[in-house]
Amino acid sequence: LHRQIYERFRLAILHGQLRPGQRVASARALAAQLGLARGTVDAAYAQLAGEGYLEAMGQKGTRVATGVIRLDRPRAAPLPARRAPPAVAAIAAGTPLPLQLGIPALDAFPRKLWSRLGARRIRALGLAQLSYPDPRGNARLREAISSYLLPARGIRCSADQVFITAGYGASLDLACRVLLRAGQRFWLEDPCYPPARRLLEEAGARIVPVPVDEHGMRVEDGIRLAPKAALALVTPSHQAPLGVSLSIARRMKLLAWAQSSGAWIVEDDYDSEFRYTGAPLPALKALDSVGRVLYAGTFSKVLFPGLRLAYLVVPPAQVDAFSRAVGRSASGCPDLTQELVADFMEEGHLSRHIKKMRSLYAQRRITLATALEEAFGDRIRVQLQAGGMHLLARIQSRRRDSQLAASAQRQGLAVQALSQRATGTHAGQALLMGFTNVVSKAQARELAARLRAAVGRA
Ligand SMILES: Cc1ncc(COP(=O)(O)O)c(C=O)c1O
Repeated sequence: LHRQIYERFRLAILHGQLRPGQRVASARALAAQLGLARGTVDAAYAQLAGEGYLEAMGQKGTRVATGVIRLDRPRAAPLPARRAPPAVAAIAAGTPLPLQLGIPALDAFPRKLWSRLGARRIRALGLAQLSYPDPRGNARLREAISSYLLPARGIRCSADQVFITAGYGASLDLACRVLLRAGQRFWLEDPCYPPARRLLEEAGARIVPVPVDEHGMRVEDGIRLAPKAALALVTPSHQAPLGVSLSIARRMKLLAWAQSSGAWIVEDDYDSEFRYTGAPLPALKALDSVGRVLYAGTFSKVLFPGLRLAYLVVPPAQVDAFSRAVGRSASGCPDLTQELVADFMEEGHLSRHIKKMRSLYAQRRITLATALEEAFGDRIRVQLQAGGMHLLARIQSRRRDSQLAASAQRQGLAVQALSQRATGTHAGQALLMGFTNVVSKAQARELAARLRAAVGRA
């Protein structure tokens, strides 16, 4: 036994799994963990120390010797030449790049307040929170969301209808698990939010792209193309990525189609809180008197995406089916974070934060648009939408928007090409860019100049 322990440590150190200077468990703790006699581990540690792999630090325990040299890892198989590493995430992780889409103003998040509420919440941790959380979500948070949705989005729902998920993708995945059968048709706006498209394809949906114009999804085209589709995904408040709103006539047509054909509508209401001209429009769900709409909200835009908290409001008749589905997976979200968000909402901080961000974003949006117009002159048409967190810039160029975006990305700007989110060509070409993290006029000018240099002359 002591030889086995010795060998495992030796290989782990040589292959870098244990790093020079890293502390290892005390002989007593390791013996207890492995159910061995203390002497067995002592013998292995003594040999490792004798050969220079470990060093004792007295009271401070034992660590991997600092001078140990790591061997190269054995190669399992030769790597294919020049293959790009696989992308693990649909959305870039880590510190956002300039102009990155969909990230709220991280500099303006009230971190002090958040950490105060967080510390209070951890101090109040009771035994119940140490056990498994409710897979439907924390009861207080579900209550807080249902209370928020009526004044903010015109939605009447009980806390029972609210399911907490780990992000919009998880909400969509849950909706597909419960409502979609493989091979069924699914209307998707064209252009769309690409992660949603990939997720639906993986769930086995047959996607029917439905064009979007200045009044939102062309519902009549959807009915013509796939009248028997099982589901439709829409972003009615602020179409992703064109930013238009679904007109009231089309909202009524969509609901009437869903009711008569028995289809489900998933409403993605990701950033509707931010509207700069006029009051936010009520959600499509607010008009749903027959229970065909599932409403997907997220905390990624109104708080921050690192939270990984979103929610899905399902019609009353679907509550049992969704409860069974989340119960089967027994995953759920960390209860502590949910409690913290519930505190934040109950104490009125969320509404205050949204209000502040609305006026900050209104400023940042104009600042970026002005800087772009100054840098590009007549060559640019900035389409300022009534709401949202990004703008759309149509740039005159002989090159395609995807080529312009690629040039800009090489200069470290995270702009994206509209055409890469589309199946058809009706939406045209444009660059999409986030304005929420552009903190000053000087920064806006610098970014606009960099973009101008990257995309070159017409
Ligand atoms: C169209 C759209 N829907 C939903 C989301 C929210 O996704 P999540 O909750 O995973 O952050 C985003 C975020 O960028 C989005 O652009």
